[in-house]
Amino acid sequence: MSAVTTTEVPFQDLTRLHASIQDELDAAVADVMARSGFVGAGACREFESAFAAAHGLPHGIGVGSGTDALALALRALGIGPGHEVIVPAMTFVATAEAVVHVGAVPVLADVDPETLLLDPASVAEVRTDKTAAVMPVHLFGHVVPFDQIEAWQASGLRVIEDAAQAHLATWQGRSVGSAGDAACFSFYPGKNLGAFGDGGAVITKDAVTAGRVAKLRDHGRESKYLHDEIGWCSRLDGLQAAVLDVKLRHLPEWTAQRQVLAERYRERLGDRLVPWEDGAVHHLLVMRVDPNDRDRLLEALRAEGIGVGVHYPVALTQQPSLTAYLRTPCPHSEAAGASVLSLPMDPLMTLSQVELVCDLVESLS
Ligand SMILES: Cc1ncc(COP(=O)(O)O)c(C=O)c1O
Repeated sequence: MSAVTTTEVPFQDLTRLHASIQDELDAAVADVMARSGFVGAGACREFESAFAAAHGLPHGIGVGSGTDALALALRALGIGPGHEVIVPAMTFVATAEAVVHVGAVPVLADVDPETLLLDPASVAEVRTDKTAAVMPVHLFGHVVPFDQIEAWQASGLRVIEDAAQAHLATWQGRSVGSAGDAACFSFYPGKNLGAFGDGGAVITKDAVTAGRVAKLRDHGRESKYLHDEIGWCSRLDGLQAAVLDVKLRHLPEWTAQRQVLAERYRERLGDRLVPWEDGAVHHLLVMRVDPNDRDRLLEALRAEGIGVGVHYPVALTQQPSLTAYLRTPCPHSEAAGASVLSLPMDPLMTLSQVELVCDLVESLS
């Protein structure tokens, strides 16, 4: 039993977040209906431009999901059968799935034991002459150092940044997407920028790559009735774009609040947390715990009304769908899967709620 009296602290609270901007959302949805702009229309184009500009890049292409964004970016960069693509073993499964979808082979590499970001030494170990690209993941909203991304590019690899958890994140003042060949985002509802369903986007500084993604997501066409290659139907729809456009206007302030909360968590919990550098956007706030004690701690926190989760309990090396792609052991990814525990993080959360969560973590650990 803890000595702390609690009120509930949800893991995140989308209902409250949306209620706080209800009028703007209602107006945006009504506008799409009034314009009947459901696919590929004004709302989508407006959002694509605004989203790219928010990252300081010239090109943004809205697509059906984060997974599709990754697959479309790979294909736009000419990656497919005969190629290998290196992905970290500690990520959401979609990073590797996208590689399989384009006919290439995902090769799993390990992560750094502290940061849980893709480890360059492991990348070097699994690289072969078939390796065409690497897909570093800005996991939890913590940014993979751009000097590393640029070193991979200088060595002849394409780099597709998986920024599904890293909207507006920066590294030494530069935005995600500005180092890699393309950056891919998810707008799954719980993401830092979330739609009212599935959605995703690719941003890039390169006009040719942008044009290829735009064509491939729309049945391989540039004009209405001429399809000169096989594409996908993976367009961001107008309603999602309108909702995202409203939320994008609030994203800087929501991101700043996540950063304030994360700093307080860090003051309280210090090196129990997975570390980050300035510019991280804290999609998830993750601590490391004794693997043998994690289930008990999860249950104890939940019993006190604290929303907690595990991201991700099963490394890609241990996923039944991916065992064929294991080239080298990834012990740090597997150890991370057994020891991570995600604490509440929500832009409308208060500092006193952070104190409450930290008090409980301390008293229950
Ligand atoms: C790191 C990472 N990559 C890719 C994805 C896939 O995004 P989506 O679910 O929108 O397809 C996600 C979403 O959960 C993710 O967290």
